Amino acid sequence: MSTTVTLTGAGGQIGYALLFRIAAGDLFGPEERVRLRLLEIPAGIGAAEGAALELQDGAFGLLEHVEVTDDPAVGFDGADHALLVGARPRGPGMERGDLLAANGSIFGPQGRAIAANAAPGVRVTVVGNPANTNALIAAAAADGVPATRFSALTRLDENRARAQLAAALDAPVAEVDGVTIWGNHSATQFPDVAHATVAGRPALDALAERVGDVTAWLDGSFIPRVAKRGAEIIQVRGSSSVASAANATLDHVRDWTLGTGERRTSAAVVSHGEYGVPAGLISSFPVRAVDGAWQIVEGQEPSPWARERIDRSVAELVEERDAVRALGLI
Ligand code: NAD
Ligand code: LMR
Repeated sequence: MSTTVTLTGAGGQIGYALLFRIAAGDLFGPEERVRLRLLEIPAGIGAAEGAALELQDGAFGLLEHVEVTDDPAVGFDGADHALLVGARPRGPGMERGDLLAANGSIFGPQGRAIAANAAPGVRVTVVGNPANTNALIAAAAADGVPATRFSALTRLDENRARAQLAAALDAPVAEVDGVTIWGNHSATQFPDVAHATVAGRPALDALAERVGDVTAWLDGSFIPRVAKRGAEIIQVRGSSSVASAANATLDHVRDWTLGTGERRTSAAVVSHGEYGVPAGLISSFPVRAVDGAWQIVEGQEPSPWARERIDRSVAELVEERDAVRALGLI
């Protein structure tokens, strides 16, 4: 058996960071063979072809086949997983939402090509920004593919939040669990530690001992640090995150495919009205993956303080949805 993975933007930075790890078995484990389809625009084909040559030179035992194309029908043919990375990254001083006009038009045609060509059980992970609303556009265009098979990446935010919490508590990051990202993959996102644990102990108790006024620390330090980490990376390294984004993409797709068990994680998935998020929006929630499907974890009722922050991010998703409607993209 083998799994077919289509990667858009395969000639770009994140593409380069993803391909070799997928070929090495970091996505589905050491038993599952992989067929890669690299979809680019003509300007990116050379870089994707170069990556394909290097994949060959890696002599990866799990890699069955690599195809490079600029034709979406060929690119998505038989795809079990579509990783939609290909899109422009933002530069300094921009918000991710500023990319909507430039990137939004990529995702409708790709959604249609997925519906027409991908495997019946295709799962789509959107990484290109603004990821939530691009996923909404792709899902709306993919006639016949349930919206539940589309998700957008907020795992990078969750990983950032876990790492910041671990640093604040001087604890190993592996012991930090249960952090939730709510809303949009943007500066309005709400990283929520209300149900987080550190070595099995409530993170809020551990934080109270360390920082005193936990709410002041969350509002003044933790939340802005996590929510603006993408901008911090851009400022420090001169371009947007690459290896950490690829790593989070692997975490997300691996969990979706292999399951999370009882562990909670975060992903932007279609709302059916859970937690008061308007149905149809692709919003980040606490989720588990069971039998290849994301399930929103219910019963994590937010406090009024948390509710206000979730509502702010969801309001931005509504604005983005209305903007792409006005542009005729959905
Ligand atoms: P990059 O510019 O290095 O690569 C993008 C690639 O996409 C280019 O090779 C380009 O030719 C290709 N491309 C553009 N339009 C395409 C199309 N229609 N079909 C196929 N390929 C296409 O950018 P990058 O650093 O790899 O980032 C890619 C995207 O990921 C950006 O939008 C960035 O903001 C986003 N990103 C998201 C997260 C997240 O957590 N969701 C994290 C990091 C980056
Ligand atoms: C990130 O979170 O690092 C990416 O979404 C890139 C960006 O524009 O911040």
